[in-house]
Amino acid sequence: MKAVIPAAGFGTRFLPLTKAQPKEMLPVVNKPTIQWVVEEAVDAGITDIAIITGEHKQSIEDHFKPTKKLESTLENLGKFEELEKIRKLNDIANLEFIIQKEQKGLGHAILCAEEFVGDCPFAVLLGDTICVGNPNCTKGLVDLFTEKQASIFSVEEVTLEETKRYGIVSGEKVGEGIMLVKDLVEKPNPEDAPSLLGIQGRYVFKSDIFTHLKMTNSGSGGEIQLTDAMNSLSKVQQIYSWTFNGKRYDIGTMKDWFQSHIELSFESEFSQVLKEVIKKL
Ligand code: G1P
Repeated sequence: MKAVIPAAGFGTRFLPLTKAQPKEMLPVVNKPTIQWVVEEAVDAGITDIAIITGEHKQSIEDHFKPTKKLESTLENLGKFEELEKIRKLNDIANLEFIIQKEQKGLGHAILCAEEFVGDCPFAVLLGDTICVGNPNCTKGLVDLFTEKQASIFSVEEVTLEETKRYGIVSGEKVGEGIMLVKDLVEKPNPEDAPSLLGIQGRYVFKSDIFTHLKMTNSGSGGEIQLTDAMNSLSKVQQIYSWTFNGKRYDIGTMKDWFQSHIELSFESEFSQVLKEVIKKL
């Protein structure tokens, strides 16, 4: 299986922070968001990964590129622990970078990966969203895909006020946390939402999704929406949702960004430092 990580948006909600720096490069604990996402795919057993970026996002590619000068400097200084961290990053996966030339939405970004994906099933992980849990969200989806041989994506309960921020899904419960999807709507007003189950940003698709993406006209926000293509797919093929019980952080909102930094720091090697800081507040 391959993975596609869309990371091409302008991050307008985070300006001025994202003027010169992609939001996917914003740090969470001690690494950029995009590294958390790539590591999730790798932990799920996926090593062929395409990152869809924009022309303004060179630093994402640079983060994963070997840096001879830095490496030789670290070596000469005897900083072998740091060197090891950098080298691990160079070899993390077979990464391909695809530029989305126009900002035409998430559906269009996924379409840019059609040639890379070919006929394989593939995972999609939104590059500005961190998911943590056991099993990791993508691994859970890959296992369910293998069992059901059908496209599947993760969801979580949202509030009525939040439906306007998510793809919302309804269907028929067919197992613990599993639903056969009947209807998907991108960012509906609360009164139009078919349920309170929101799409989280982790998916595993059969390559048939490309046929539906190509048939999809601009939808919510004037963009080609992945959710609309999924809705079209659901009319001709089984597609499932899975309620993920772990945590999800949308690194496109200040609240989730702060929260991710604090909560994930507590689970990291820096927990003691954080406790000391908090004690002094
Ligand atoms: C995208 C998807 C939406 C999903 C959301 C999760 O929207 O289009 O269906 O619920 O991610 O964060 P975006 O947040 O990119 O506007």
